[in-house]
Amino acid sequence: MSGDPYDRLFQAAEAARARAYAPYSAFPVGAAVLAADGTVHAGCNVENAAYPVGQCAEANAIGAMVGAGQVRIEAVLVIGGRPGDDTLCTPCGACRQRIREFAPPEAPVYICGPEGLRRQETLATLLPLSFGPENLGG
Ligand code: THU
Repeated sequence: MSGDPYDRLFQAAEAARARAYAPYSAFPVGAAVLAADGTVHAGCNVENAAYPVGQCAEANAIGAMVGAGQVRIEAVLVIGGRPGDDTLCTPCGACRQRIREFAPPEAPVYICGPEGLRRQETLATLLPLSFGPENLGG
């Protein structure tokens, strides 16, 4: 697959994945989000000797976006997977909720391996009947 914004997201996520700190799982992940102003923000997973303290790539990409002053996600791309293993690196449940905070239901979520796109979903298909800011009157 090609075309903007997919290409920009893929390149940013792959560059972040190359810097992942994943000594415990040996499962590097990169993520990138497209913000409403057209900027792309990326993150990688950052593990920790105290395992539960590790952070997902998506969480760090979202943190970078918010730190840059953006609070709306138009698209998400995640890259993960070991060579020769074509299982999907889908966002974990907690990260689906993190995306939900800033993205509309129709936002595309590109699920990739190092070679390219493996599956395209939306936030709504990954997290149906979700709870978000509107539920609190936001
Ligand atoms: N991981 C992510 O960063 N994002 C995902 O979408 C799935 C899993 C990380 C967490 C942990 O560092 C490693 O992958 C193995 O679970």
